[in-house]
Amino acid sequence: MTTIRSISNPSYDVLIIGSGAAGLALALNLPSSLRIAVLSKSKLNEGSTWYAQGGIAAVLDDSDSIESHVNDTLNAGAGLCHKDAVEFTISHSKSAIQWLIDLGVNFTRQAQSGDFHLTREGGHSQRRIIHSADATGKALHTTLLEKVHKADNIALHEHYVALDLVKQVDPNSKKLRCAGAYVYNRSTESVEAFTAKTVVLATGGASKVYLYSSNPDGASGDGIAMAWRAGCRVANMEFNQFHPTCLYHPKAKSFLITEAVRGEGGKLLLPNGERFMDSFHELGELAPRDVVARAIDHEMKRLGSDCVYLDISHKSEIFIESHFPNVRQQCLEYGIDITKEPIPVVPAAHYTCGGVMVNEHGQTDLHNLYAIGETSFTGLHGANRMASNSLLECIVFAQSAAKAIKASLHEISPLRDIPPWDASRVTNSDEDVVISHNWDELRRFMWDYVGIVRTQKRLERANHRIKLLQKEINDYYSNYKVGNDLIELRNLAVVAELIIGSAMQRKESRGLHYSLDYPDLAEFAQDSILVPMNFAAQNIIVHHEHKT
Ligand code: FAD
Ligand code: SIN
Repeated sequence: MTTIRSISNPSYDVLIIGSGAAGLALALNLPSSLRIAVLSKSKLNEGSTWYAQGGIAAVLDDSDSIESHVNDTLNAGAGLCHKDAVEFTISHSKSAIQWLIDLGVNFTRQAQSGDFHLTREGGHSQRRIIHSADATGKALHTTLLEKVHKADNIALHEHYVALDLVKQVDPNSKKLRCAGAYVYNRSTESVEAFTAKTVVLATGGASKVYLYSSNPDGASGDGIAMAWRAGCRVANMEFNQFHPTCLYHPKAKSFLITEAVRGEGGKLLLPNGERFMDSFHELGELAPRDVVARAIDHEMKRLGSDCVYLDISHKSEIFIESHFPNVRQQCLEYGIDITKEPIPVVPAAHYTCGGVMVNEHGQTDLHNLYAIGETSFTGLHGANRMASNSLLECIVFAQSAAKAIKASLHEISPLRDIPPWDASRVTNSDEDVVISHNWDELRRFMWDYVGIVRTQKRLERANHRIKLLQKEINDYYSNYKVGNDLIELRNLAVVAELIIGSAMQRKESRGLHYSLDYPDLAEFAQDSILVPMNFAAQNIIVHHEHKT
């Protein structure tokens, strides 16, 4: 049993599912009088946050402006960002960073002036990324977790996997509300019922739906799938971002080479040493991520090469060591000295721009259910997230959700007990191969048919496959005891279906969705909003259409 600390009463004021930047920032922004539980399905630091490298985008320098950051975000988002969400996020960027500084996050300072060092990444017209060398996520998460450990009102439950949300009818308003979750305890291999007045999904993204990904293993879109099953709308799932530069090495599972390497002068090269990005975009290596990933994909396919190269070796060893100690060390472990030679790189699935639809307080369609961080769809990222806007979104929306939760808790009428999980009709699996086989098959066809470049035919193939897999997985789920792998596979199948469904609806190419059959931009930019059969409520309406 690896619960770090638990409060004896199993009923909480706030149940936060996820211990990344979004979940921990929320826990710390809620009043200390509340009883809060934070769940993590594996180790507390095993989310994308820990692995974040480049930094956090914010308007911190006098030469920068909110307007400039907003415009860059809108440009990167290819006409699909919600301007109000962009302005909301960026206008709160300075205070969000100040909160992190006050907590003690160790951001890198310039040697001479002592000011914070700001780096640059794709799509940004300014240096505005505050960072902690090239391991910003680790610095951020370590500080947040330290503070959470000190808070007596926050119970941390490690290796607890939420598998479904629980809904009840509110006796006063007669509306459906979220009242907790069923949670699989990996240590006891049993399902427990957590009751909570407010539930928050902070479960991160879904990039593990693709065969090659920069994300840690748990990025299986659990929050998106749970919210969808609970009747919440999900939007823009076709916009899964591929990071242009993950290390290409047979032994490297998913190591990212931060975009800041290009921000600090790194060049992308073909195997013959030629630069190529200038012929794809005027910003060259610092073009928005969708453009760079597509250019690399194009060149690799044209040349039949396994990778391209990223070269920073023209910079001094001192410069490289001070800016990229983590990348340098990791590459050295694979026998690549980045101070002397180019790094072999390939694109890999990196970030889920779509997600559970929320308003600016993180409220979903279902009462008392919130979603924050990568699992949510706030409208900030449009058709392509700009680098380092994600951690910013985690903090800003965590703070905003905290205010809304605090204001609403007193209105919530008492919850009824949640019935215990019924496992009487399931048996132990005798064929776990079904899980591993379907896991591999799903991620491979998503990569092959729903990847960087799409066609209707490929999407139809994927759609056919996912329908078959869904049936098989759901049958399996109904008959056998749950475990972490089965829970993740079931969720990945939902997310894959949502991605394919949204991609098939979009008859244009925009941002991260590129179709050979529809290469042009439509005149009007529209979100792909998917409405579940059991649509929970009309809590919020976010439907945007803008002229492209
Ligand atoms: P995560 O940090 O992914 O945390 C998810 C949490 O949810 C985990 O604790 C997990 O255990 C838990 N969880 C999931 N499902 C369940 C479940 N069913 N039950 C219980 N718990 C569950 N963005 C930037 O802005 N700047 C960067 O420099 C940057 N670099 C990146 C580098 C890498 C390699 C990666 C992968 C991403 C990077 N990103 C970056 C993106 C950014 O890190 C993520 O979008 C962000 O950290 C997401 O935070 P989160 O709190 O939403 O989720
Ligand atoms: C990176 O460091 O390249 C990742 C930045 C991001 O995903 O925002």
